[in-house]
Amino acid sequence: MAQRETWATRVGFILAAVGSAVGLGNIWQFPFKTATNGGAAFVFVYLLAAVLIGLPAILGEFVVGRRSKLNAIEAFGRLNRPSWTIVGALGLFIGMWILSYYSVVGGWVIRYVFGSATGAYFGNPGEYFGAISAGVDAIALHGLFMLLTAGIVAFGVEDGIEKATKLMVPSIVFILLALAVYAATLPGATDAYAYYLNPDFEYLFNNLGDVVPFAVSQAFFSLSLGMGAMITYSSYIDGDESLPSDGATIVVLNTLIGLLAGFVVLPLLFAQQGGVSETAAGGGPGALFVAVASAFADLGTAGRAVGVVFFLVVLIAALSSAISLLEVVTSYMVDKYGFDRKATAFGFGAVLFVVGTFSAANTAWLGWFDTIAYKFLLPVSVLLGVFFAGWVLGPVAVEELRKGTGGLTRFGPAWLWMLRTFVLVAVLATLLLGVDTLYEMPPIPSL
Ligand code: PFF
Repeated sequence: MAQRETWATRVGFILAAVGSAVGLGNIWQFPFKTATNGGAAFVFVYLLAAVLIGLPAILGEFVVGRRSKLNAIEAFGRLNRPSWTIVGALGLFIGMWILSYYSVVGGWVIRYVFGSATGAYFGNPGEYFGAISAGVDAIALHGLFMLLTAGIVAFGVEDGIEKATKLMVPSIVFILLALAVYAATLPGATDAYAYYLNPDFEYLFNNLGDVVPFAVSQAFFSLSLGMGAMITYSSYIDGDESLPSDGATIVVLNTLIGLLAGFVVLPLLFAQQGGVSETAAGGGPGALFVAVASAFADLGTAGRAVGVVFFLVVLIAALSSAISLLEVVTSYMVDKYGFDRKATAFGFGAVLFVVGTFSAANTAWLGWFDTIAYKFLLPVSVLLGVFFAGWVLGPVAVEELRKGTGGLTRFGPAWLWMLRTFVLVAVLATLLLGVDTLYEMPPIPSL
């Protein structure tokens, strides 16, 4: 069998993982959820969740990946009994589930890059979103986004994903920085910062049951946990670099880039009539598009240029995440069945394109897929992954984590203890709270 691929450099792995983490979750959802969930109070809970739950959990996935040096499905079986493979299979299933609609949103973003350039949505942003978000055009652009994703994955780990993300992640940071500087000059910027940075703890305490699970799931999604992506990426690490320091770097960068996106999006939202517009706040998956597009429309000619740049950065971020999901299934087919990488990437891209046509035909389907992923699938998968690393691997996980840390002996047992108790309970609580509100979900949309 051909030798398994690896990253060419350590930075390559870190940037690919950051590329996976930084996506629509950071730039599309995080600032908007912050804006509609109490501002800084939400940010506060999110930060705690990222450090106290996200970091230990991502290290769990890294340990599974690097120890097994296998795709995210077989990894579990190789490290323990074959029956654990089911946990990996669940992750793969969730990754495909998410990618099917993620790509539809990616298609909208492509549309908005062009719509900004021509000012197509300037007349009526709400109507524009309604017109482009579902139907034949949405399906076509979803197909284009999937094709771009498969195109990168087809080139392989080093020549495709590593090279692409080395270019994409720094671009995301520079463009967002430039946009944040611009956003600071907008009229509502000061109010936006106050809302973003001054936690309203009263709001938090009154809405604890909503805000906390929401922020924790957001952290899972944002760190690409529970979908096999981080296991797959860490399985390509060739060497004993320090996983704790790589993990911390990835979590910090992901969080900083999300926060930075807030410095762009919140002033934009506040520039419109001094706050998040009612319609946008109440709306479904398109709310941010409508709200941000309205802000660009208000800016007139400058709005066109800023709009193009903004949606371009969202597109880059979405692509660098989507490739990590397609890589999960690709690496499995290549490892296990010796499939051709290119054929697998395009073949599964085509399958997911078909699944995603539901979401592209009707945004109610998209909302349905997303809610199930957030409230149910992700927490279940993260829970099983944490249980596996903490209780099934246990000391083996600690041994793997220690490699390359230069004898960092104390951290390992503390991490294991965290995983086994606090993290496990917190994830379980998130799951129960999420499932508890599943009944509020809209019914399955009719075709
Ligand atoms: N982390 C990505 C985001 O925040 O947009 C979403 C994502 C990408 C989830 C890749 C899962 C994944 F495997």
